[in-house]
Amino acid sequence: MKTGKSPAPVVIVIFGGTGDLTKRKLIPAFYHLYLEGWLSGKFAIIGLGRTELNDSDYRDRLGEGLEEFSRSGKPEDHKWNDFKTSISYLKSDINNEASYADLSRKLDDFDESIGVRANRLFYLSVAPQFIESATVHLHKAGIANIPAQDRIVVEKPFGHNLETARELNKLLTNTFHESQIYRIDHYLGKETVQNILAFRFANALFEPLWNRNYVDFVQITVAEEVGVEDRGGYYEGAGALRDMIQNHLLQLMCMVAMEPPISFQAEEIRNRKVDVLHAIRRFKPEDVNKDAVRGQYAGGWLQGKKVPGYREEQGVAPNSNTETYAAVKFYLDNWRWQGVPFYLRTGKRMQEKVSSITVQFRPVPHLTFPTAYSEGMSPNRLTINIQPEMDIRLRFTAKQPGLEMALNPVEMVFDYNCSKQAPEAYETLLLDAMQGDPTLFMRSDQVELAWEVITPILEAWQSRPSLEFPNYASGMWGPENAEALIAREGHTWAVHTLKNNNH
Ligand code: BG6
Repeated sequence: MKTGKSPAPVVIVIFGGTGDLTKRKLIPAFYHLYLEGWLSGKFAIIGLGRTELNDSDYRDRLGEGLEEFSRSGKPEDHKWNDFKTSISYLKSDINNEASYADLSRKLDDFDESIGVRANRLFYLSVAPQFIESATVHLHKAGIANIPAQDRIVVEKPFGHNLETARELNKLLTNTFHESQIYRIDHYLGKETVQNILAFRFANALFEPLWNRNYVDFVQITVAEEVGVEDRGGYYEGAGALRDMIQNHLLQLMCMVAMEPPISFQAEEIRNRKVDVLHAIRRFKPEDVNKDAVRGQYAGGWLQGKKVPGYREEQGVAPNSNTETYAAVKFYLDNWRWQGVPFYLRTGKRMQEKVSSITVQFRPVPHLTFPTAYSEGMSPNRLTINIQPEMDIRLRFTAKQPGLEMALNPVEMVFDYNCSKQAPEAYETLLLDAMQGDPTLFMRSDQVELAWEVITPILEAWQSRPSLEFPNYASGMWGPENAEALIAREGHTWAVHTLKNNNH
């Protein structure tokens, strides 16, 4: 966690410096950290890329990105001008030793100019096939060789399956100490996600109810309105299970289901999350059909606009078997959660963008009121809205004001919109990485266990192409059999009724 504003000198080296992530997320995040005093006066950002660019052109490009994507809108000229003097560009080839010699010289020059050896943060925002080359060359060049000062941030995907994830971890740990490796899952940096821990463990109220005796089921939905955009090439080899469930959704589930940590130490928190991954009941191949549902979007209408089906997107095969929707029912084999279903679902081109966690409590054990009074009664429900709405809602039943005894659901709401503008996930995570706090980053065993959990589903889906694809129209809430998946237990998805019920 943040250790206060006494930032050490740092150089940030971005592999993939001309890429989309740098422009959209990284530079806006560093800029806000700078504005808020979290960056030392002595810092430098070096963007690496293959394109021929000078510093000034590079800064202009990033400036345009900042204007478009920054959470605070167009930057004030004098502040941006001040900030951008610390940004430079180095044309380089990730596979070429000479480029690392150039980088090494640049790093030494910076250290010399400030009179100390600065910390170094190497950010790998590159396709997975380049990670090996980058790590081996960094090691050979001896420029990331002080474990206490040098860190490497790796973007997902962490492998394509369990085997490749293990290889990647081996490769990284051959070159770096685990404490230097920061595997980023941007969901963990979201303000609302971090608040799950505060909410659960800083209040005495919820924890006694947070178990199989009181909780009926848990749902985690991450629905997106967007399709695959221009990422068809990547997405074809990934699909919703790899792209979202293996990382973001399973991590959210860990935060909801973990045991209370003894302290806020990074390893303690990560250990408790790993316990959850260990406890997830592994799928038998014959259960996949029953407990996991896949979908692929067809064309349709979204917000009054006609949108193409997945198979018509750029870079996608016309007979693609890749799922753009996945819903899975998990069980945890431990004392706290035995028998409580955790429904996880995610999809692209759904009706609206919404990420939300629902904890549904059991109905009251005995109905005191005559049916006529209690028609509007529903069990208590806690909803944690992660985005775009950021709030926590507790639904309970109350008497409707009036002469009659009529019962209706009402809500208590904690709304983040009332509080100060929340930092972006990347701000939190980049600051943590600079300060050497790995709490919100994925340890190698977390990554591997998450792959282990989804492997039987991946294998079953791969071996049996879907005959139904495409099976949901854009703008819907996914395929019909996703309703059946949870209807078997007498449950319904909470989110698509959220707007009607809760707002
Ligand atoms: C990324 C996935 O990890 O998360 C994308 O690769 C997805 O496919 C994105 O769109 C969603 O992130 P957010 O923060 O917009 O919910």
